Amino acid sequence: MAGHLAIRTVGIVGAGQMGMGIALTAASRAALPVKVFDKSSQQIEGGLKLVASLLAKDVHKGRISTDESKDVHSRISVVSALDKLKDCDLVVEAAAENLLVKQSIFSALSQICAPSSVLATNTSSISITKIAASVARPEMVVGLHFFNPVPVMKLVELIAGLQTSPSTLSRAQSFAEACGKEVTQSADVPGFVSNALLMPFLNEAIMCLEKGVATKEDIDKTLRLGMAHPMGPLQLADFIGLDTCLAIQQTLHRETGDDKYRPSVLLGRMVDAGWVGRKAGKGFYEY
Ligand code: CAA
Repeated sequence: MAGHLAIRTVGIVGAGQMGMGIALTAASRAALPVKVFDKSSQQIEGGLKLVASLLAKDVHKGRISTDESKDVHSRISVVSALDKLKDCDLVVEAAAENLLVKQSIFSALSQICAPSSVLATNTSSISITKIAASVARPEMVVGLHFFNPVPVMKLVELIAGLQTSPSTLSRAQSFAEACGKEVTQSADVPGFVSNALLMPFLNEAIMCLEKGVATKEDIDKTLRLGMAHPMGPLQLADFIGLDTCLAIQQTLHRETGDDKYRPSVLLGRMVDAGWVGRKAGKGFYEY
Protein backbone atom coordinates (compact mmCIF):
# COMPACT_ATOMS: atom_id res chain seq x y z
CA MET A 1 0.00 0.00 0.00
CA ALA A 2 1.58 3.28 -1.10
CA GLY A 3 2.09 6.74 0.32
CA HIS A 4 0.60 7.96 3.56
CA LEU A 5 -1.71 4.94 3.74
CA ALA A 6 1.11 2.40 4.07
CA ILE A 7 1.33 0.58 7.40
CA ARG A 8 4.94 1.13 8.49
CA THR A 9 4.79 0.69 12.25
CA VAL A 10 2.36 -1.38 14.30
CA GLY A 11 1.32 -0.79 17.90
CA ILE A 12 -0.08 -3.47 20.20
CA VAL A 13 -1.97 -2.77 23.42
CA GLY A 14 -1.96 -5.79 25.71
CA ALA A 15 0.90 -8.30 26.03
CA GLY A 16 -1.19 -11.39 26.77
CA GLN A 17 -1.17 -14.48 24.57
CA MET A 18 -3.21 -12.72 21.84
CA GLY A 19 -1.32 -9.40 21.85
CA MET A 20 2.09 -11.07 21.83
CA GLY A 21 1.00 -13.56 19.19
CA ILE A 22 -0.09 -10.67 16.94
CA ALA A 23 3.17 -8.80 17.68
CA LEU A 24 5.25 -11.83 16.74
CA THR A 25 3.26 -12.49 13.57
CA ALA A 26 3.48 -8.84 12.43
CA ALA A 27 7.24 -8.74 13.15
CA SER A 28 7.96 -12.06 11.45
CA ARG A 29 5.48 -12.57 8.58
CA ALA A 30 4.87 -8.88 7.75
CA ALA A 31 8.44 -7.85 8.80
CA LEU A 32 7.05 -4.70 10.45
CA PRO A 33 8.43 -2.92 13.50
CA VAL A 34 6.05 -3.47 16.42
CA LYS A 35 5.72 -1.51 19.66
CA VAL A 36 3.98 -3.26 22.53
CA PHE A 37 2.38 -1.54 25.50
CA ASP A 38 0.97 -3.19 28.61
CA LYS A 39 0.41 -1.56 31.97
CA SER A 40 1.53 -4.76 33.70
CA SER A 41 5.28 -5.44 33.65
CA GLN A 42 4.52 -9.04 34.59
CA GLN A 43 2.44 -9.47 31.40
CA ILE A 44 5.26 -7.92 29.35
CA GLU A 45 7.79 -10.27 30.90
CA GLY A 46 5.63 -13.32 30.19
CA GLY A 47 4.90 -12.09 26.66
CA LEU A 48 8.57 -11.60 25.82
CA LYS A 49 9.37 -15.06 27.18
CA LEU A 50 6.69 -16.54 24.91
CA VAL A 51 8.13 -14.74 21.87
CA ALA A 52 11.67 -15.86 22.71
CA SER A 53 10.59 -19.48 23.13
CA LEU A 54 8.60 -19.54 19.86
CA LEU A 55 11.53 -18.03 17.94
CA ALA A 56 13.95 -20.49 19.56
CA LYS A 57 11.66 -23.34 18.46
CA ASP A 58 11.65 -22.05 14.86
CA VAL A 59 15.47 -21.88 14.89
CA HIS A 60 15.67 -25.34 16.45
CA LYS A 61 13.37 -26.73 13.72
CA GLY A 62 15.55 -25.11 11.04
CA ARG A 63 12.72 -22.86 9.79
CA ILE A 64 14.69 -19.67 10.36
CA SER A 65 18.34 -18.88 11.00
CA THR A 66 19.64 -17.44 14.26
CA ASP A 67 20.20 -14.12 12.45
CA GLU A 68 16.61 -14.05 11.16
CA SER A 69 15.37 -14.80 14.65
CA LYS A 70 17.44 -11.88 16.00
CA ASP A 71 16.00 -9.61 13.29
CA VAL A 72 12.45 -10.53 14.24
CA HIS A 73 13.23 -10.04 17.90
CA SER A 74 14.78 -6.63 17.24
CA ARG A 75 11.62 -5.49 15.45
CA ILE A 76 9.60 -5.97 18.67
CA SER A 77 10.04 -3.27 21.29
CA VAL A 78 8.26 -2.61 24.53
CA VAL A 79 7.05 0.92 25.33
CA SER A 80 6.35 2.29 28.77
CA ALA A 81 3.31 4.47 27.98
CA LEU A 82 0.39 4.46 25.56
CA ASP A 83 1.44 7.81 24.05
CA LYS A 84 4.63 6.18 22.77
CA LEU A 85 2.40 4.56 20.13
CA LYS A 86 1.81 7.93 18.50
CA ASP A 87 3.79 7.18 15.33
CA CYS A 88 2.03 3.85 14.72
CA ASP A 89 -0.02 3.65 11.52
CA LEU A 90 -2.07 0.79 12.91
CA VAL A 91 -2.68 -0.16 16.53
CA VAL A 92 -4.24 -3.47 17.55
CA GLU A 93 -5.84 -3.47 20.97
CA ALA A 94 -5.80 -6.89 22.66
CA ALA A 95 -6.67 -5.93 26.25
CA ALA A 96 -9.32 -7.48 28.53
CA GLU A 97 -12.70 -8.33 27.03
CA ASN A 98 -14.45 -5.43 28.75
CA LEU A 99 -16.25 -2.54 27.02
CA LEU A 100 -15.19 0.17 29.48
CA VAL A 101 -11.53 -0.89 29.37
CA LYS A 102 -11.59 -0.89 25.57
CA GLN A 103 -13.42 2.44 25.30
CA SER A 104 -10.90 4.15 27.56
CA ILE A 105 -7.98 2.76 25.50
CA PHE A 106 -9.60 3.85 22.21
CA SER A 107 -10.49 7.27 23.51
CA ALA A 108 -6.82 7.80 24.49
CA LEU A 109 -5.45 6.30 21.24
CA SER A 110 -7.68 8.50 19.08
CA GLN A 111 -6.07 11.55 20.67
CA ILE A 112 -2.53 10.16 20.55
CA CYS A 113 -2.41 8.71 17.02
CA ALA A 114 -2.59 10.54 13.69
CA PRO A 115 -6.07 10.92 12.16
CA SER A 116 -4.91 8.71 9.28
CA SER A 117 -4.09 5.77 11.55
CA VAL A 118 -6.13 2.58 11.88
CA LEU A 119 -7.33 1.63 15.37
CA ALA A 120 -8.18 -2.07 15.43
CA THR A 121 -9.63 -4.14 18.24
CA ASN A 122 -9.10 -7.86 18.70
CA THR A 123 -12.39 -8.14 20.59
CA SER A 124 -14.14 -11.50 20.30
CA SER A 125 -17.65 -10.25 20.98
CA ILE A 126 -17.96 -6.57 21.85
CA SER A 127 -19.59 -4.34 19.25
CA ILE A 128 -17.11 -2.41 17.07
CA THR A 129 -19.68 0.39 16.73
CA LYS A 130 -19.89 0.64 20.54
CA ILE A 131 -16.11 0.79 20.95
CA ALA A 132 -15.93 3.40 18.17
CA ALA A 133 -18.52 5.51 19.99
CA SER A 134 -15.79 6.53 22.45
CA VAL A 135 -13.63 8.25 19.82
CA ALA A 136 -13.91 11.50 17.87
CA ARG A 137 -13.30 9.75 14.52
CA PRO A 138 -15.19 6.44 14.59
CA GLU A 139 -14.29 5.86 10.93
CA MET A 140 -10.74 4.88 12.11
CA VAL A 141 -12.01 1.96 14.22
CA VAL A 142 -12.28 -1.62 12.95
CA GLY A 143 -12.43 -5.17 14.29
CA LEU A 144 -9.49 -7.50 13.54
CA HIS A 145 -10.24 -10.73 15.33
CA PHE A 146 -7.28 -13.12 15.53
CA PHE A 147 -7.44 -16.68 16.85
CA ASN A 148 -5.30 -18.41 19.44
CA PRO A 149 -2.50 -19.45 18.92
CA VAL A 150 -2.08 -16.49 16.56
CA PRO A 151 1.10 -17.72 14.82
CA VAL A 152 -0.66 -21.00 13.96
CA MET A 153 -4.30 -20.19 13.21
CA LYS A 154 -4.80 -19.10 9.63
CA LEU A 155 -7.87 -16.89 10.04
CA VAL A 156 -8.57 -13.28 10.88
CA GLU A 157 -12.16 -12.10 11.09
CA LEU A 158 -12.61 -8.53 9.82
CA ILE A 159 -15.50 -6.51 11.20
CA ALA A 160 -16.69 -3.07 10.14
CA GLY A 161 -18.64 -0.99 12.63
CA LEU A 162 -21.48 1.16 11.28
CA GLN A 163 -19.09 4.09 10.87
CA THR A 164 -15.87 2.32 9.78
CA SER A 165 -14.55 3.87 6.55
CA PRO A 166 -13.83 1.70 3.48
CA SER A 167 -10.19 2.85 3.62
CA THR A 168 -9.81 1.73 7.27
CA LEU A 169 -11.39 -1.61 6.39
CA SER A 170 -9.14 -2.26 3.39
CA ARG A 171 -5.96 -1.20 5.24
CA ALA A 172 -6.83 -3.52 8.13
CA GLN A 173 -7.42 -6.34 5.63
CA SER A 174 -4.07 -5.67 3.90
CA PHE A 175 -2.32 -5.82 7.28
CA ALA A 176 -3.94 -9.18 8.14
CA GLU A 177 -2.96 -10.54 4.72
CA ALA A 178 0.61 -9.27 5.15
CA CYS A 179 0.62 -11.30 8.38
CA GLY A 180 -0.08 -14.37 6.24
CA LYS A 181 -3.74 -14.72 7.26
CA GLU A 182 -6.89 -15.52 5.31
CA VAL A 183 -9.61 -12.96 6.00
CA THR A 184 -13.35 -13.43 6.38
CA GLN A 185 -15.72 -10.54 6.93
CA SER A 186 -18.52 -10.50 9.48
CA ALA A 187 -21.21 -7.95 10.29
CA ASP A 188 -20.99 -6.22 13.68
CA VAL A 189 -23.35 -8.65 15.43
CA PRO A 190 -22.71 -10.11 18.92
CA GLY A 191 -19.87 -12.67 18.67
CA PHE A 192 -19.50 -12.06 14.91
CA VAL A 193 -19.62 -15.33 12.93
CA SER A 194 -16.97 -17.18 14.94
CA ASN A 195 -18.24 -16.86 18.49
CA ALA A 196 -21.94 -16.80 17.60
CA LEU A 197 -21.29 -20.38 16.46
CA LEU A 198 -18.51 -21.51 18.81
CA MET A 199 -19.86 -20.34 22.18
CA PRO A 200 -23.20 -22.22 22.16
CA PHE A 201 -21.20 -25.34 21.19
CA LEU A 202 -18.74 -24.95 24.09
CA ASN A 203 -21.57 -24.14 26.48
CA GLU A 204 -23.53 -27.20 25.37
CA ALA A 205 -20.47 -29.37 26.13
CA ILE A 206 -20.19 -27.82 29.62
CA MET A 207 -23.89 -28.54 30.20
CA CYS A 208 -23.37 -32.16 29.13
CA LEU A 209 -20.70 -32.42 31.82
CA GLU A 210 -22.94 -30.64 34.34
CA LYS A 211 -25.80 -33.10 33.67
CA GLY A 212 -23.49 -36.11 33.92
CA VAL A 213 -24.14 -37.17 30.32
CA ALA A 214 -20.51 -38.30 30.01
CA THR A 215 -17.10 -37.76 31.59
CA LYS A 216 -15.08 -34.76 30.46
CA GLU A 217 -12.63 -37.10 28.76
CA ASP A 218 -15.39 -38.82 26.79
CA ILE A 219 -17.07 -35.54 25.79
CA ASP A 220 -13.76 -34.32 24.37
CA LYS A 221 -12.86 -37.66 22.83
CA THR A 222 -16.22 -37.78 21.03
CA LEU A 223 -15.48 -34.52 19.23
CA ARG A 224 -11.78 -35.23 18.66
CA LEU A 225 -12.15 -38.72 17.27
CA GLY A 226 -15.72 -38.60 15.99
CA MET A 227 -15.58 -35.22 14.29
CA ALA A 228 -11.82 -34.67 13.83
CA HIS A 229 -11.69 -31.56 16.01
CA PRO A 230 -8.07 -30.83 17.04
CA MET A 231 -9.24 -30.30 20.63
CA GLY A 232 -12.41 -31.37 22.41
CA PRO A 233 -14.74 -28.54 23.52
CA LEU A 234 -13.79 -28.65 27.23
CA GLN A 235 -10.11 -28.67 26.34
CA LEU A 236 -10.72 -25.77 23.94
CA ALA A 237 -12.67 -23.79 26.57
CA ASP A 238 -9.70 -24.23 28.95
CA PHE A 239 -7.36 -23.12 26.17
CA ILE A 240 -9.36 -19.95 25.40
CA GLY A 241 -9.80 -19.22 29.12
CA LEU A 242 -13.04 -19.89 30.99
CA ASP A 243 -13.21 -16.24 32.09
CA THR A 244 -13.02 -15.16 28.45
CA CYS A 245 -15.66 -17.74 27.46
CA LEU A 246 -17.94 -16.48 30.24
CA ALA A 247 -17.44 -12.81 29.26
CA ILE A 248 -18.23 -13.60 25.61
CA GLN A 249 -21.30 -15.64 26.51
CA GLN A 250 -22.58 -12.91 28.83
CA THR A 251 -22.22 -10.34 26.02
CA LEU A 252 -24.01 -12.62 23.55
CA HIS A 253 -26.81 -13.33 26.03
CA ARG A 254 -27.23 -9.70 27.10
CA GLU A 255 -27.17 -8.29 23.58
CA THR A 256 -29.47 -10.83 21.93
CA GLY A 257 -31.68 -11.79 24.87
CA ASP A 258 -31.60 -15.28 23.34
CA ASP A 259 -31.52 -18.15 25.84
CA LYS A 260 -29.32 -20.25 23.58
CA TYR A 261 -26.43 -18.01 24.69
CA ARG A 262 -27.11 -18.25 28.46
CA PRO A 263 -23.84 -19.35 30.14
CA SER A 264 -24.13 -22.59 32.09
CA VAL A 265 -24.08 -22.41 35.89
CA LEU A 266 -20.98 -24.63 36.00
CA LEU A 267 -19.01 -22.21 33.80
CA GLY A 268 -19.79 -19.35 36.20
CA ARG A 269 -18.79 -21.47 39.21
CA MET A 270 -15.49 -22.46 37.61
CA VAL A 271 -14.67 -18.79 37.07
CA ASP A 272 -15.75 -17.94 40.65
CA ALA A 273 -13.30 -20.58 41.88
CA GLY A 274 -10.47 -19.09 39.83
CA TRP A 275 -10.24 -22.27 37.76
CA VAL A 276 -10.14 -20.36 34.51
CA GLY A 277 -8.26 -22.86 32.39
CA ARG A 278 -4.78 -23.44 31.09
CA LYS A 279 -3.39 -20.02 32.05
CA ALA A 280 -4.38 -20.63 35.71
CA GLY A 281 -3.01 -24.19 35.78
CA LYS A 282 -6.54 -25.55 36.30
CA GLY A 283 -9.82 -25.52 34.44
CA PHE A 284 -11.74 -28.63 33.45
CA TYR A 285 -8.27 -30.22 33.37
CA GLU A 286 -5.06 -29.63 35.33
CA TYR A 287 -2.00 -28.21 33.55
N1 CAA B 1 1.52 -20.13 20.71
C1 CAA B 1 2.15 -20.31 19.53
N2 CAA B 1 2.26 -21.50 18.93
C2 CAA B 1 1.71 -22.56 19.56
C3 CAA B 1 1.04 -22.45 20.78
C4 CAA B 1 0.95 -21.17 21.36
N3 CAA B 1 0.29 -20.96 22.51
N4 CAA B 1 0.60 -23.67 21.14
C5 CAA B 1 0.98 -24.52 20.18
N5 CAA B 1 1.64 -23.84 19.23
C6 CAA B 1 2.24 -24.37 18.01
C7 CAA B 1 3.31 -25.36 18.33
O1 CAA B 1 4.52 -24.68 18.64
C8 CAA B 1 3.41 -26.15 17.04
O2 CAA B 1 4.09 -25.39 16.08
P1 CAA B 1 5.08 -26.08 15.06
O3 CAA B 1 4.25 -26.95 14.19
O4 CAA B 1 5.62 -24.89 14.37
O5 CAA B 1 6.07 -26.81 15.87
C9 CAA B 1 1.94 -26.18 16.57
O6 CAA B 1 1.28 -25.14 17.29
C10 CAA B 1 1.30 -27.48 16.89
O7 CAA B 1 1.47 -27.71 18.29
P2 CAA B 1 1.65 -29.13 18.96
O8 CAA B 1 2.27 -30.05 17.96
O9 CAA B 1 2.33 -28.93 20.26
O10 CAA B 1 0.18 -29.55 19.34
P3 CAA B 1 -1.08 -29.83 18.45
O11 CAA B 1 -0.76 -30.47 17.15
O12 CAA B 1 -1.97 -30.49 19.39
O13 CAA B 1 -1.67 -28.38 18.09
C11 CAA B 1 -3.02 -26.52 18.50
C12 CAA B 1 -1.93 -27.42 19.04
C13 CAA B 1 -2.55 -25.79 17.24
C14 CAA B 1 -3.33 -25.51 19.58
C15 CAA B 1 -4.27 -27.42 18.12
O14 CAA B 1 -4.62 -28.21 19.21
C16 CAA B 1 -5.48 -26.63 17.68
O15 CAA B 1 -5.59 -26.20 16.54
N6 CAA B 1 -6.42 -26.43 18.63
C17 CAA B 1 -7.63 -25.64 18.38
C18 CAA B 1 -7.28 -24.18 18.55
C19 CAA B 1 -8.46 -23.30 18.28
O16 CAA B 1 -9.57 -23.71 17.95
N7 CAA B 1 -8.22 -22.00 18.42
C20 CAA B 1 -9.23 -20.99 18.29
C21 CAA B 1 -9.82 -20.69 19.62
S1 CAA B 1 -11.09 -19.48 19.52
C22 CAA B 1 -10.24 -18.03 19.57
O17 CAA B 1 -9.05 -17.92 19.72
C23 CAA B 1 -11.02 -16.80 19.37
C24 CAA B 1 -12.05 -16.43 20.31
O18 CAA B 1 -12.64 -15.38 20.06
C25 CAA B 1 -12.42 -17.17 21.50
